[in-house]
Amino acid sequence: MLIDRLKEIVGPKGWVTDPVELAPRLLDWRGAVQGAALIQVSPSDVTQVSDIVRACADAGVAVVPQGGNTGMCAGAVPDGSGTQVLLSLGRMNAIRAIDSANFSMEVEAGCILENIQQAAVGAGRFFALSLGAEGSCQIGGNLATNAGGINVVKYGTARAQVLGLEAVLADGSIVSSLRSLRKDTAGYDLKQLFIGSEGTLGIISAATLKLYPDPGPRSTALIALQSSGQAVRLFAHLRERLSDSIEAFELVSGYVFGLVQKHIPGTALPFATSAPWYVLLQAVASEGDESLEDALLGAAETQLIDDAAVAKNSAEANAFWRMRHSIAEAERAEGKAQKHDISVPVSRLEEFLLRGDELLSKMVPDAQLVAFGHVGDGNLHYNVALPDGSNDGQRVTDAIYELVAETGGSFSAEHGIGSVKRKYLPRYRGGSEIALMRTLKRALDPNNILNPGKVI
Ligand code: FAD
Ligand code: MLT
Ligand code: ZN
Repeated sequence: MLIDRLKEIVGPKGWVTDPVELAPRLLDWRGAVQGAALIQVSPSDVTQVSDIVRACADAGVAVVPQGGNTGMCAGAVPDGSGTQVLLSLGRMNAIRAIDSANFSMEVEAGCILENIQQAAVGAGRFFALSLGAEGSCQIGGNLATNAGGINVVKYGTARAQVLGLEAVLADGSIVSSLRSLRKDTAGYDLKQLFIGSEGTLGIISAATLKLYPDPGPRSTALIALQSSGQAVRLFAHLRERLSDSIEAFELVSGYVFGLVQKHIPGTALPFATSAPWYVLLQAVASEGDESLEDALLGAAETQLIDDAAVAKNSAEANAFWRMRHSIAEAERAEGKAQKHDISVPVSRLEEFLLRGDELLSKMVPDAQLVAFGHVGDGNLHYNVALPDGSNDGQRVTDAIYELVAETGGSFSAEHGIGSVKRKYLPRYRGGSEIALMRTLKRALDPNNILNPGKVI
C-alpha cells in the first residue's frame, strides 16, 4: 500500500497524517484555499525525494511539493480530494558549501531564505534575493515561483541568482546540474525549466546560488508624494543620477501604510502629516554617482517630491523596511482584497495608473484601491478591496487584466499562477506559447502527477 511504502521511505520522523498537525499545511497563506492530503512526507535527502516520487508514480498518485507555504496563489496546497501526497521540503535544509572565491553557495531546497542571506554575510558575501516572507519561505519555493522581491531592480529575480540546480523528475529520476559556472553553453539550460514552474515539472531538491561582494553601507529614504505618477517620474530622475546604485524602489499608498499602522504594533511613519503616496528607496554608495541626499535635493527643487526622511542609522532603515515587509500581513488582517500582481513596462506605468484610477472610479466608485509594489520593476500589487457583499469581483479583475494587456503587461508578475490564476493563462498567453507549455508538461510529466491543477 502506498502509505506504508512512503512511511518506510522517510522513517518515523518523516511523515504526518494527524489532521491537527496537518491543518496549517493545508491552508494557503492568505486563508483562501483549503486542501486535504493523504499524508505529508518530509524527506531528509534527495534519494528519499526520488523514492517518494517513484512510489507515487507507481501508484498513480499526485505529489504536491511545499516549501514555506507563503505563496500567494495556493500553488503549494493539495486539492480537496484527500488523495494527494504533500511533499514538504523543510527537513532538507543544509547549506552544503560556500565557495567564497567563486562567489557561490550550494544549498538544499528546504533552506529558509533568511538563513541563506545570513550564511552569505557570514562569508563576507551577499545573496540578493529579499522579500517579506524571507523568515519562513524556502529557497526551493523561491525558485519554483521565480520570486521577485525588493532587489530585482539591481539584481534580477530568483532566476538570476541560480548557477546550478538539482531536481527530481516525475518518474523519480534525479537530474543534477549542480554546477557553479557563470558560463556554460553545453546544451540546453535545463535548470531554467524548473525555475518558475511551481512544482509542475519537477521537484527542486538543491541549488547552487550566485553570491555578490558585500555591497557595503546603504542609504535608505522614505519619500512622501502627492501622486503615484510622481513616483514613476522620480524613479526615472533618480536612475539617471544614481544608475545601478538603486537596489530597491518601492511604492506604497498612504492607505496601505495606514493599514500597516493599524494592524502591526510599533509601526509609524516619520512625517508630521500623511501623504497619498510614498516611495521607499534603498541605494548602495557607489563611486562616481551623486549621493542619494543630493539626488533627492535635486528632485525636491523640481517639485518631484514633497518630503523625504533619510534613515540616520540602520535602526531607522530597518523600521522603514519593517513597515514595507508587513504590508501583506496587514492586508490579510484587514480582510481579503482582490489581488492583482501585475507588471507593465516602466515606461507605461504612469499611463496604467491613470487609466486604472479612471476605470475603478467608473466601475466601482465605492471600492478601495490597495496599491503597493516594486515600481522599479514595473510590478504593482494593484489590489482592490470591494465593499462587503459586492458581486463585482470578477468584473473588476477582468477589467484590470484587460488594461494590463493593453498597456503591454503581464497579469502575473512575481507570485506565479498556482491554482487561483490558472484560468487566465490561456487568455493572456498566445496559443503557440500555451501549446509549447503543454508539450513540455506532457514530456516531463506524462501521467500528470506533479502538482496537477496548478499553472497549466
Ligand atoms: P510555497 O508557498 O511552499 O510554494 C510555492 C510554489 O512552489 C508551489 O507551487 C509549490 O508547489 C512550489 N514549490 C515549493 N517548493 C518546491 C520545490 N522544492 N520544488 C518544486 N516546487 C516547489 N513573492 C515575491 O515574488 N515577491 C515578494 O516580494 C513577496 N513578498 C511576500 C511577502 C509575504 C509576507 C508573503 C507571505 C509572501 C510573499 N511573496 C512574495 C510570495 C511568496 O513568499 C513567494 O512566492 C515565495 O517564493 C514562496 O516560497 P515558499 O517556500 O513559501 O513556497
Ligand atoms: C509584497 O510585495 O509585499 C509581496 O509580493 C506580497 C504581497 O503582494 O502581498
Ligand atoms: Zn511583491
